Amino acid sequence: MTDHETLANLLQEDRRFEPPAELAANANVTADAYEHAAKDRQAFWAEQAERLTWAERWNTVLDDSNPPFFKWFTGGKLNAAYNCVDRHVEAGRGDKVAIHWVGEPVDDTRDITYAQLKDEVSQAANALTSLGVATGDRVAIYMPMIPEAIVAMLACARIGAPHTVVFGGFSADALASRLDDCQAKVVITSDGGYRRGAPSALKPAVDEARTKTDVVEKVLVVRRTGQDLGPDGWDDDVDVWWDDVVANASTEHTPEAFDAEHPLYVMYTSGTTGKPKGILHTTGGYLVGTSYTHHAVFDLKPDEDVYWCTADIGWVTGHSYIVYGPLANGVTQVLYEGTPDSPERGRWWQIIEQYGVTVFYTAPTAIRSFMKQGREIPDQRDMSSVRILGSVGEPINPEAYIWYRNVIGGDRTPVVDTWWQTETGMIMISPLPGVTHGKPGSAMTPIPGVAADVVDDDGNPVPNGSGGYLVVTAPWPSMLRTLWGDDDRYVDTYWSRFKKQGYYFAGDGAKKDTDGDIWVLGRVDDVMNVSGHRLSTTEIESALVSHPKVAEAAVVGAKDEDTGQAVCAFVILRENAGDGGADIVQELRGHVRKEIGPIATPRQIMIVPELPKTRSGKIMRRLLRDVAEHREVGDVTTLADSSVMDLISQGMSSSSED
Ligand code: WT7
Repeated sequence: MTDHETLANLLQEDRRFEPPAELAANANVTADAYEHAAKDRQAFWAEQAERLTWAERWNTVLDDSNPPFFKWFTGGKLNAAYNCVDRHVEAGRGDKVAIHWVGEPVDDTRDITYAQLKDEVSQAANALTSLGVATGDRVAIYMPMIPEAIVAMLACARIGAPHTVVFGGFSADALASRLDDCQAKVVITSDGGYRRGAPSALKPAVDEARTKTDVVEKVLVVRRTGQDLGPDGWDDDVDVWWDDVVANASTEHTPEAFDAEHPLYVMYTSGTTGKPKGILHTTGGYLVGTSYTHHAVFDLKPDEDVYWCTADIGWVTGHSYIVYGPLANGVTQVLYEGTPDSPERGRWWQIIEQYGVTVFYTAPTAIRSFMKQGREIPDQRDMSSVRILGSVGEPINPEAYIWYRNVIGGDRTPVVDTWWQTETGMIMISPLPGVTHGKPGSAMTPIPGVAADVVDDDGNPVPNGSGGYLVVTAPWPSMLRTLWGDDDRYVDTYWSRFKKQGYYFAGDGAKKDTDGDIWVLGRVDDVMNVSGHRLSTTEIESALVSHPKVAEAAVVGAKDEDTGQAVCAFVILRENAGDGGADIVQELRGHVRKEIGPIATPRQIMIVPELPKTRSGKIMRRLLRDVAEHREVGDVTTLADSSVMDLISQGMSSSSED
């Protein structure tokens, strides 16, 4: 059996949602954009580059003389911070709110206009220079979701010092290895931030990281919680308060124009093996890509919309769709510091109601956790302002999509399921809300200007109705340029699998349905092989989650003497389902059999209280595979909560195997 046959879709999903007429009539991007872009992709991206303000125009749109080391807009010069801030002030929009910041403690809020943002970014840029940061030096940012985090990123961009933002939930060890890898000279942090109703310290982790690497010369500390730093919590030779050096710096700062290919930031992401990969993004192409996609995919109208992306700035989504894309477009957006359930489980919906959020972008893992709590909580709020919903990070199960659309979107709003990666920098495959019919669970088609396909083992496009590997077949402006300090690994990881064709290998499996629309199935290493049939963990998870008693599910393939691999499922029940009843396991097996077919029936279903997730919300299937294969559980250090595996082992007492 060939790959494209074995990966064929087993799950039937035929619900369709048309774009609302009014949205379609006023959409930023219309259907003709696809054809227009395909005719001459480089000319298309050159047109989109006009969205930005360039100090010097580029002379070459795409330099592909040394693949896969592509360059975009060479000869062009610009300043990213100027494009995100100053030019909006110069255009007379200085009084417009850039950020509605919402602290976790109730009523702890700040509204920041573009004019204020310009002053603060300028002050921080001057302060960084006074601390010895020069163009090209790396600066690490390890902060909670407070406005200073965005100010810090833009200040780095303004002086041409690439930033590396390390997620505030990472440990001192993880921070130290990143500081070391990119040789960060300065760290910007805060005493702490608010999480789950209490101050949570950050500065001690920086201190501990400094015992593991000696690259750091200065630590710039924002006072957020005012918490005690402890007897050894301050080093006069290294530590400086933000309030002392930034607040007192001049608000005058002339932004220098940098090369389009000047490094903007390094973002670390985990690979299949060991050491994190430092994804390098540069300035011009990245800003063109994020600005255009934010405009197109979210139909963003800067004068009317209130935008909210719930990602943390420690991830690429925060970089592309909180900081660079939205601010380049001059939006008003919400920035929220805390957890979704503090002080109450409806906090997000209260914020949407309070600020009249119109465009909302979050992750399926969050959506499923709200589904689990029940619709009574969001139903208490008026969310009629919402007009577009976005999803990112993993395949969205059809049931989660429908719940999101119905409960949060009042059955009015399109859901844009956006496929992209840290490496791609920008959204690559997504519906356009005013153009594309929505299909629950499908990211649909590459956006205008992007060329992607699903190919077989030999790199040949698979026919509609079949599955294979997701590839990007032509360079795109916001693509990663390399892995920091490791060109070989860059070539090897992304460009060697389909070297002959020169395709970028995304590492995901996908299928094309009979209309040619793309359904991303998840990482290829999560694809199982059961009796010679390839099965996607995601499809079976979606089937499980479509059962009314199920809140969340993770599926892994476990070695099986008879079938090669067998399907093992870990399931969290909804609160209102109680323990699910005595026959829950048989009920769920029957449900999957009915939804997908006997081949997909889980051999084993374990009802568990939690699933092991990384801090970015990705399920660590490796650990579940260990449990399913009765091995000792492996390394749990990257889990958000390392006690989860104990909970699962205890919960397994209620498991069934037959
Ligand atoms: C991987 C990239 C993109 C920013 C957040 C994650 C999966 C992402 C989707 C989607 C199906 C998705 C893929 C991809 N993924 N979005 N809409 N549908 N899968 O960034 O940590 O770099 O992860 O996330 O597997 O390769 P990341």
